Amino acid sequence: MKKSLSTFLKGVIICLIASGFNACSDRPQANSTTNAMDQRVDSLLSLMTLDEKIGQTIMYNGTWEFTGPTSGGNRWKAEKIINGQVGAMLNVLTADEIRRTQALAVDSSRLGIPMLFAYDVIHGYKTMLPVPLAQAASWDTEVARLGSEVAAREASAAGLHWTFAPMIDISRDARWGRIMESPGEDPFLGAAMAKAWVEGYQGDDLSSLTTIAACAKHFAGYGFAEAGRDYNTVEVSMHTLYNVILPPFKAASDAGVATFMNGFNDLNGIPATGNEFLQRTILKDKWAYDGMMVSDWGSIPEMIFHGYAMDTAQAAAIAMKAGSDMDMEGRVYEKGLKAKITSGEVSEELLDDAVRRVLRLKYKLGLFDDPYRYSDSEREKEELLSKENLEAARDAARKSMVLLKNETNILPLKKEIKSIAVIGQLAASKDIPLGSWRAQAVPNSAISLVEGIKSAVSANTKVEFAKGYTLTVGNRSFGKELTIVEDDKTGFKEAIELAKRSDVVVMAMGEDCYQSGEGRSQMDVGLKGSQIDLFNELKKVNDNIVVVLMTGRPVAIPDLATDANALLETWFAGSESGNAIADVLFGDYNPSGKLPVSFPHHSGQEPLYYSQKSTGRPINRAENVFWTHYTDGPNDALFPFGYGLSYASFTYEDLKVTGSGESINIKVDVTNTGSVGGEEVVQLYIQDVAASLTRPIKELKGFQKIFFEADERKTIKFTLTKDDLSFINDHGEKVFEPGDFRISVGSNSRDLNTKAITIN
Ligand code: NOJ
Repeated sequence: MKKSLSTFLKGVIICLIASGFNACSDRPQANSTTNAMDQRVDSLLSLMTLDEKIGQTIMYNGTWEFTGPTSGGNRWKAEKIINGQVGAMLNVLTADEIRRTQALAVDSSRLGIPMLFAYDVIHGYKTMLPVPLAQAASWDTEVARLGSEVAAREASAAGLHWTFAPMIDISRDARWGRIMESPGEDPFLGAAMAKAWVEGYQGDDLSSLTTIAACAKHFAGYGFAEAGRDYNTVEVSMHTLYNVILPPFKAASDAGVATFMNGFNDLNGIPATGNEFLQRTILKDKWAYDGMMVSDWGSIPEMIFHGYAMDTAQAAAIAMKAGSDMDMEGRVYEKGLKAKITSGEVSEELLDDAVRRVLRLKYKLGLFDDPYRYSDSEREKEELLSKENLEAARDAARKSMVLLKNETNILPLKKEIKSIAVIGQLAASKDIPLGSWRAQAVPNSAISLVEGIKSAVSANTKVEFAKGYTLTVGNRSFGKELTIVEDDKTGFKEAIELAKRSDVVVMAMGEDCYQSGEGRSQMDVGLKGSQIDLFNELKKVNDNIVVVLMTGRPVAIPDLATDANALLETWFAGSESGNAIADVLFGDYNPSGKLPVSFPHHSGQEPLYYSQKSTGRPINRAENVFWTHYTDGPNDALFPFGYGLSYASFTYEDLKVTGSGESINIKVDVTNTGSVGGEEVVQLYIQDVAASLTRPIKELKGFQKIFFEADERKTIKFTLTKDDLSFINDHGEKVFEPGDFRISVGSNSRDLNTKAITIN
C-alpha cells in the first residue's frame, strides 16, 4: 500500500503528538495496552477544537446509495471533511473510492484524523450468504461465524472498516419485514448467533486486514413494533425487555462488539435514540460497554416527529445526553450541538466521552497507523467472489435449509429420475435468492433452482421448466414499493401440461426477496398471487409435488402443509442457492436446519412464539368458550420453533434429570433410527413452574447439533446451574427462586420429553 509523503508526514506528526512523542510503531497498535491507547486518544483530544470534536460525531452518507431522506449534492461534503467536521461516512464504496475520500480527511484537514467507512454488509458483500434468519435456522454457530468472516474478508478488501451488522432484534411477528435480518424469536438462540456473528466480523483482532468492526443493532426493542408494522411504537414490559430483548445485545457486548446502533422506535414512550436508560444506564454503565453508539439513519431528528424533541437543537441535546455518540445522517449534531455545549446545557465532558469512543475505534482498526490500510484494490479483485467464499456460501445455505415435510420419503430424489418438472417464477430467478439487503451482490447472479437441479441430475434426466405463476414484475429494487401480480393465470396451462408428463414436480413458491426487509411489513403472511391456485391445479395431475419455499419470514401455508408431498424451506439462500437446494433435494446433504421462528396457520395468530405464558385459562375445562383460544383456528404453530426433519430419524428415550441447584445434570438417549447418517439439534427447555413473575411455559436453555451415523445411539448430556434457572426481575436483578421446574429435551419445542425437579 502506498502512502503519499504528506499523508505519511501528517501521520507521523499525529502519531507523535498523540503518543506524547513515544516511539511510533509502523504496525497497528493491536498489542498496545488499553492505557497506551487511552493516552494517545486523550492527547489527540486535547488538540481538538470544539468544532473538530463535534466533527468526529458526524457521519455522512456517500453518493452511491440512499437509505433514507437526504439532501443531495456532495461538493459541500468534501469541504466539511476538509474542515475536520466529518468523523465517518457510510455507503462510500470500493477500495479506490474510499482511498480518495479518506485522503480529503487525512491530507487536507488540520489534524488529518482518518474517517471510518461503513456499509450495511448484512449477509455478504459480493458473495451472498443466506439471509440472517436462515443462518439462525442452521442452529450452527459456526455457520454464522464463518458467514460473517466471509463477509468481513470481502468488505475489508473493498476498503470498508465497519458494518452495520449483526441485527439482533428478537422478533416474534412474521408480519415485520425485518424479521429476515434477525436471529428469530428466541433470546437464547439469538444470543448464540449474536456472539458468533460478532466473532466472525471482528475475529480476535480489529486491526487485522481481513476483519471489520461489527455493530449490534437496533438497541433496543425495534423487533417488537406493534402489529409488526415497521417503525411502529414499542410497548414492552421491563421483564420482556430484560429477558427477551436484551440477551443477544448482552452477548454481543460480552463478545466485544465494537459498536452499537440505536433504533427508530420509541420504547415505552421514549425514543431509543434519546433513551438514557438504555444507552447509559444499561449499556455503558451496567454492562461497562466502552465501544461506540451510532444513531440509526436520521433517528436523532426523528425524535421531533416522535413528539419527544421540539427542534433540532433539543434533539441534539437529548441524543448526546442519552449516549448516542454519532449522528448518522441526521445533520443534528452539526447544527445543534455546539450551541447546547457553549450554553452549558450539554456538558463538554459528554462530548469528549463520545469522541473518545470514536477515536478508540479508529485506533483499534489501525487507522492512525495507516488510514489507507484497507484500501488495496489488488486484494479487492482477488477476494470478491473467490472460490473459497462461494464454497462457504453453498455450505452455509444447505445447512440453513429446513425440511418441513417429507411424506413417504419422497425426498431425497434420485439423480437418475427420468423427468422433473421445475415450476414457478421463483425457480428460474437468479435474483430473488440473493435476498434483500444484498450489499454489492451482482443482480441476477445467483444460481437458480433450475440451474442447480440441472447440474445435479444424471445426463439422462429430463429437466423442464415452466414459469406457471408470476409473482412480481417491474421495479423490483431496494427502497421501492413492490408490484405483486395478484391474479395471473396465463402460465397455468403450460405448467399443468408439464406436470402431467413428469415423474416429479419441484415447485418453487414463496416471496419476492423485496417482500421482506426494511419498510416491508405485511398484514398477510400467506403466499401472494396465484401460487396456491397453481399448486392446487398441479396436485390434480401429479401426486409427487416437492415444494421449495423461498421466504424471508415465516409464512402461513396450511394448504401446503397438508397437500405438498414434501416441503423444504430454503429462505433466501444467497449466491449458491440453486446448488445448495439441489444438494438437499438429491441427498448430497442431509438437511439439518430447525426453525428459528414459529410458522403460523394464519396471519391472525401473529405475534406467534413458542415461549408463551400459560395464562389463567390455558385449557378448556368446561367445554365452553371461556379459555384462551381462537374460535376459528388453532393456538399452536403450524410448524413450531425448533422444528425440522432429516432424512434420518431420531428417537429420544430415558430422560434423566438429577442433581442439586448447583449443578443439574440432564441425560437423554438419542438414537438415529434411520438408514443414513444425519445431524440432529438436541434442544433443552425449562419451565419455572411458579415464580414472582409469570414465566413462559417453555424457554430454550441449551442445544447441541450432533452427527449420528445410521443406527447410532448416543447419550447426550446437558448441565444447568441456578443461573440458567434464573430470570431478570423488573428491577434488572437476576433472581433465582427455589421451587419446582420442568426440564424438557427433544427435537423441537413441541415434541419433548419432560421431567420435574425441585431445586432449593
Ligand atoms: C436504516 C436501518 O434501520 C439500519 O439498520 C441501517 O444500518 C441504516 N439504515 C444504514 O443504512
